[in-house]
Amino acid sequence: MLAIAGAWAQSEPPKTPAAPGTKLAEGEFKNIQALKGIPAEQVIPSMQFIAASLGVECEYCHVAHANEKDDRSRKLAPAR
Ligand code: HEC
Repeated sequence: MLAIAGAWAQSEPPKTPAAPGTKLAEGEFKNIQALKGIPAEQVIPSMQFIAASLGVECEYCHVAHANEKDDRSRKLAPAR
């Protein structure tokens, strides 16, 4: 029982599994690192959710019109 609880506590947060044949984020976008495996159609809604949650615009983290670029340190902040 304790072992099961321990395994659960260490597991990744659930990501919605992509149905077979679904185009994946890394197949649609140029520089996907963290969101690999989620459906491509969920990337923009996820970004809108993140931006709205923080009360910021896309450009807070992204170079305008170049979302794949890692030039803004705030884009990379959660991972590094
Ligand atoms: C809090 C920072 C943050 C905000 C705000 C944000 N993004 Fe992102 N965005 C990221 C990160 C981090 C990634 C990389 C995800 C990955 O590697 O899986 C990313 C990736 C992307 C990508 C994929 C780029 C590629 O080609 O690989 C797109 C498109 C994108 N964002 C669009 C948007 C849009 C549109 C908005 C505004 C609605 C937005 N983002 C707001 C952090 C942010």
